[in-house]
Amino acid sequence: PLTSTRRLVDAARAAGQGLAAFNVITIEHVEAVIDGAERAGGPVIVQISENAVAYHRRNVFPLAAAAAALARTSSAEVSLHLDHVEDEALLHRAADAGFSSVMFDASKLDYAGNVEATRDAAGWAHANGLYLEAELGAVGGKGGAHTPGVRTDPTEAAEFVAATGIDALAVAVGSSHAMVERTAALDLDLIARLREAVGQPLVLHGSSGVADEHLAQAVGAGIVKVNIGTILNVAFTDAVRAALAADADLVDPRKYLAPARNAVSEQVQRLISVVSGG
Ligand code: G3H
Ligand code: ZN
Repeated sequence: PLTSTRRLVDAARAAGQGLAAFNVITIEHVEAVIDGAERAGGPVIVQISENAVAYHRRNVFPLAAAAAALARTSSAEVSLHLDHVEDEALLHRAADAGFSSVMFDASKLDYAGNVEATRDAAGWAHANGLYLEAELGAVGGKGGAHTPGVRTDPTEAAEFVAATGIDALAVAVGSSHAMVERTAALDLDLIARLREAVGQPLVLHGSSGVADEHLAQAVGAGIVKVNIGTILNVAFTDAVRAALAADADLVDPRKYLAPARNAVSEQVQRLISVVSGG
């Protein structure tokens, strides 16, 4: 069934488990994520980023509607999350498009600018029944937060949460977006200190670059929501490449999309059990 991110995050936290949130680009990704959750027997967050919306010619509604329809008929508990939103117009479409949560990303701004923009976003989100995640850090580099070397300070994090009223905090603790090698070293001690300093659930971004055993350790130290994207794209594209390489006459897209979807589903199944301690 389709449920809310707040419910899934609160339940995972109460159980001392992590909750996997997977980025999707196409309907095949959505099918694979939900199928993987059913196979793992656990809940999952399906997330669509502003970049994925841009790919769909800036129309958030079709993929979100497909994801909601697939969630409603699934035996797994599924919530829909709108990820890395910088455009306020997109934020304002979130509730109508079926999302129960949004990550509003003003992390490229300086501290004061981030607080101001995030406080406004949280106010709007709460008035419209949405759960709001935000990110702290005046972080350089194109990928926004989690540039290697940048870290979230626990004292500043506590101030940021109090000043903005957000529901969940994305933290920079050693991961970096879009890594294809799983070599990131997380600062587990910093995660534990952030958990002490901040009452709200912590979110790890760029989790594809983190090895399975370190993801489990991050959850043990205090991460609740674990955002995973690139690892699924690697699996998807490897499977497409293999199917095309194996048959030069292949023309039916279903012949390469079906193995790609299956490869993604297997990754999802494994990663859900890694972060939930199963
Ligand atoms: O918000 C999405 C995530 O941070 C995904 O990062 O593609 O590096 O796994 P990743
Ligand atoms: Zn991210």
